[in-house]
Amino acid sequence: MKTPLALVPPMGWNSWNSFGWNINDELIRSTADLFVESGLRDAGYEYIIIDDCWSEKQRDEKGRLVPDRNKFPGGMKAVADYVHSKGLKFGMYSCAGTHTCAGHPGSFEHEFTDAETFAEWGVDYLKYDYCYKPLAADGANLYRRMSMALRSCGRDILFSACNWGADNVYDWIRSSGAQMFRSTGDIQDNWFNIKGIMESQIDKSPYSGNFCHNDMDMLVVGMHGNSHNTEVLGGVVGGCTDTEYKTHFAFWAMMAAPLIIGCDVRNMTDVTAEILMNRDIISIDRDMECRAPYVIRQWNNPDNVFALVRPLSTGEYAIGLFNLSDKKAEMSLQFYDIGLPVSSGRGLELYDCYVHAAAGVFTERYVTQLESHDCAVFRAKPVKL
Ligand code: GAL
Repeated sequence: MKTPLALVPPMGWNSWNSFGWNINDELIRSTADLFVESGLRDAGYEYIIIDDCWSEKQRDEKGRLVPDRNKFPGGMKAVADYVHSKGLKFGMYSCAGTHTCAGHPGSFEHEFTDAETFAEWGVDYLKYDYCYKPLAADGANLYRRMSMALRSCGRDILFSACNWGADNVYDWIRSSGAQMFRSTGDIQDNWFNIKGIMESQIDKSPYSGNFCHNDMDMLVVGMHGNSHNTEVLGGVVGGCTDTEYKTHFAFWAMMAAPLIIGCDVRNMTDVTAEILMNRDIISIDRDMECRAPYVIRQWNNPDNVFALVRPLSTGEYAIGLFNLSDKKAEMSLQFYDIGLPVSSGRGLELYDCYVHAAAGVFTERYVTQLESHDCAVFRAKPVKL
């Protein structure tokens, strides 16, 4: 039996956050090269995805999508072949509406033709947006349509739905056949926006799981204000500190979210590379069971300071401690609250996913001071004392 797509959350890179409409053949090829040279591929990043603005504004006389002749003069098959030659997979973008958000042709009423075209080009992943959906059309039905078109096109194409959490997507997306679904508006490269996404998704974890993952949007780790979108926040996109990028990445991993890089990987700093390729964090994100975490809030600072706790397939637990507040704060995880009373005669053996070493055996509780916007992540094993 063949393994279905997206057993665990997909990992890759997408052109939108850093490049917007400014994409071309050379960018995609050099990003694929960098995936190999920097170790991103070996760390698990697999899909190189071209977002909006890759096509001509008109379909051809047969009604097929046409790659932009200036940006992709050799066509898409050539780009796909190059990406595949690096041991990577190739992703593209379309839209459930008549037009994409940037005004290029959408796949509405062209779903089966487009799926066939993508298959011919060697596409392995399709992000599917929600702009210009005819008002009278039913969104759930449009995602079912494209899902069916992809499932019958003769090639394995991962279906990445992107309707920003609209129209109660949580209720119908898994049954549409999509492998992941965007649950939020567009992420921006600033802490305020990232924190908002975290807060909006923390109680949505029951909807994520194997084969259909909650996509909290692409990562902004390492962008440092270099977004293509300078209209955000009155002209200042902002950027984050490395601590904030670390916490953003850890939160996505604790939620078992897809990890799709948005920075220009050709200019990664050492710290960015370290955050994105932290294998201890990635292995939590991609734990085979894909269980959603439960939340334990700090009793005297519940809105901003909390733990996410997730059973892992190894018999261990992943524990992420987060301080979203603007001040240093205490987080005390009482083991009683995660199901380990003192009367069990057991404690937790902790492994620190940033120090990459054992942190000791603790009983009754683990207490730490977290800097503002910082986090700590452990793998924990219940042990007899
Ligand atoms: C938005 C989507 C973004 C990006 C953009 C392209 O709707 O959420 O991630 O794909 O469209 O125009």
